[in-house]
Amino acid sequence: PGNGSASSHGKTILIGEHAVVYGAPALVLPVLDARVVATVSPVGAGADEAAGTTVGHTLESTVHTGPLDLAPAAVMPTVTAVTATLRHFGVTDRHFHVRVDSEVPTARGMGSSAAVAAAVTAAVADALGETLDAETHHDLIQECERVAHGRPSGLDARGVVAAVPVWFEGGRIEPVALGARFTFVVADTGIPGHTRQAVAAVRERHDQDPAAVDGVIDRIGELARQARGTLEAGDAQGLGVTMDAAHDLLSALDVSSADLDRLVDAARAADALGAKLTGGGRGGCVLALAADDDHADRIAAALRGAGAAATWTTTIGARA
Ligand code: MEV
Repeated sequence: PGNGSASSHGKTILIGEHAVVYGAPALVLPVLDARVVATVSPVGAGADEAAGTTVGHTLESTVHTGPLDLAPAAVMPTVTAVTATLRHFGVTDRHFHVRVDSEVPTARGMGSSAAVAAAVTAAVADALGETLDAETHHDLIQECERVAHGRPSGLDARGVVAAVPVWFEGGRIEPVALGARFTFVVADTGIPGHTRQAVAAVRERHDQDPAAVDGVIDRIGELARQARGTLEAGDAQGLGVTMDAAHDLLSALDVSSADLDRLVDAARAADALGAKLTGGGRGGCVLALAADDDHADRIAAALRGAGAAATWTTTIGARA
């Protein structure tokens, strides 16, 4: 058996967080520059067994380094990534040393767990001399995501392997054709997102005043449709307008925070074409749209000046 490697990347939600929970469509954006690389190499040759070493999978990552069978809960999805992929190929007698190098921060709504699952499953397949077709790969990532999150929508699993924005509606996905090149800046508040609490708070609001919340959700769904049209038409100005409007609606649902608002304001002060929180909110990241690469550098600098812990610039679509 040989070595294997594979990579994936982070994701953010362009438009549609929270509303997607109520069936509205969402646009998911790959963050190609926040990469996860998994490399696996076989272990457990006869020599180890003769030396009395326990033979099993081992992991090397910032979260955990050591035997996978003694791994903390945070690493259980990675255990699943290895074992589910081996099971898929009917392999029972191989053990691997798995190394994960991730630039995707955890608990920021950037799809860290799905990205690690995507890279590790593909790397194990690669080491077996196999490849995973897209739907098998998706199913394996979702199996890991269920260990990580309980009931994942599948949005993250799609975003972390996509090269273009993905339209997500009613469980179905479609890649979005881009009419131009778009450059986004993602900025991390440095504060973990509180998606679960934010989703529960929106639910409570919905219980108290269903008509008002349904109205906001419908408007976010409408913005997602508009945003898709602007991507296809290559209309960056128009896309920025939908992003600003989405941030206002998410604020109306009370899922923003002072830190998110400060970064959104900083991006707008640097003339971002649009800016919004992305993901569950109450921490996590903001997403800003730049006119070009130089502008993205200026926005990123402004965001770091306003306290962002990290920024990523991601460009999608053909070079103009
Ligand atoms: C979190 O990244 C996105 C939410 O819409 C929750 C979900 O879709 O499960 C807030």
